[in-house]
Amino acid sequence: MSFDEIIDRFGTHSVKWDMMESIYGVPAKDGIAMWVADMDFRPPKCVSDALVKMNDMGVYGYYGDDAAYRDAIRWWMKERHNWTVERDEIFTTHGLVNGTAMCVDAFTKPEDGIVLMTPVYHAFAKVIKAAGREVVECQLALNDGRYEMDFDAWETQMKGHETMLILCSPHNPGGRVWTRDELQGVADFCKRHNLILVSDEIHHDLVFAGNTHIPMANVDSSIADRLVMMTATTKTFNIAGSHSGNVIIADPALRAKFGARMAALGLSANSFGLFMAEAAYSPEGAAWVDDLVVYLDGNRKILDTAIADIPGLASMELEATYLSWVDFSGTGMGREEFTRRVEKDARIAVNHGPTFGTGGENYLRFNIATPRARVQEACERLAEAFSDLQ
Ligand SMILES: Cc1ncc(COP(=O)(O)O)c(C=O)c1O
Repeated sequence: MSFDEIIDRFGTHSVKWDMMESIYGVPAKDGIAMWVADMDFRPPKCVSDALVKMNDMGVYGYYGDDAAYRDAIRWWMKERHNWTVERDEIFTTHGLVNGTAMCVDAFTKPEDGIVLMTPVYHAFAKVIKAAGREVVECQLALNDGRYEMDFDAWETQMKGHETMLILCSPHNPGGRVWTRDELQGVADFCKRHNLILVSDEIHHDLVFAGNTHIPMANVDSSIADRLVMMTATTKTFNIAGSHSGNVIIADPALRAKFGARMAALGLSANSFGLFMAEAAYSPEGAAWVDDLVVYLDGNRKILDTAIADIPGLASMELEATYLSWVDFSGTGMGREEFTRRVEKDARIAVNHGPTFGTGGENYLRFNIATPRARVQEACERLAEAFSDLQ
């Protein structure tokens, strides 16, 4: 398949395309959807073949015997991430927002503080607040246009009632692949403050050449009794509609607690997600991901070059993810004005920075996982919308 193919997603219940007009006022007629984090590409053939096979058989009953599914996950984590996972460590949740909510439910109590390194993926705060817990923001330091961890500053931002930290690794929206030292710093911080560490690694496969993602589980074995890992096929293979994710817990005591909450809520997996995951975590799936990352890297370079050509705009250098974080503060414009230009003049739907927490005020997030011609069109429209700055 070619990632260049333009697939019309209108009228398919695509939140990204079918709702951009009602949410952002970006016209369906000629708008470009660069917000929600899914891709405008079909998954690899092995994944759609699995669904075709299921459909050809035609009976959609209860799923049983998930050994091959668990082994596919184990194979992928070992092969792609050098991480050894055991079968019984794996839980399947309804995606990782659900996985996060389940961790909050299982390991914290109402009014506890939960630490987020902001700006960060907005659903974390949404889930924490909805569950009656408090978000404690530890802000990422911005050094030379790159986010870095600032443990000294974070010591002063802690309030004393925190019981959990949620790490986003690689980082959405900054695109950082955290180094081993940084991850060790997070492990030490969690030990120092006695926090459960939930490591959301949903973007772990979308890492650009020259960077290596290190699973938190491989960083420090002394935190195994406080560590919860979260991974999924959904970002990697563009199958987010399957609402499927894995919460992987090595520690038996944590696992018992998590399993008890899953049982209490009557949660079990959707068979479509399991069929797709088993097909995706395969050599064919791996080859597709390798091609995808090269393609995304090309898109990233095109957007970065175009942004660099507009005075006052700066995109963060992505080490991973297809979500480009663009800083508009150099324009001297207020948020309403630069957002209006992007949405009304350039007709591009993007995510607004403030939803990611403190530090996001002057940013917009652009999803570049779309055919290259669209990225190029978006770049031309941005140049035009900010042409007075040239
Ligand atoms: C860090 C992170 N976690 C979780 C999700 C969503 O997970 P799911 O669709 O499995 O609920 C996203 C989607 O953008 C994300 O960026």
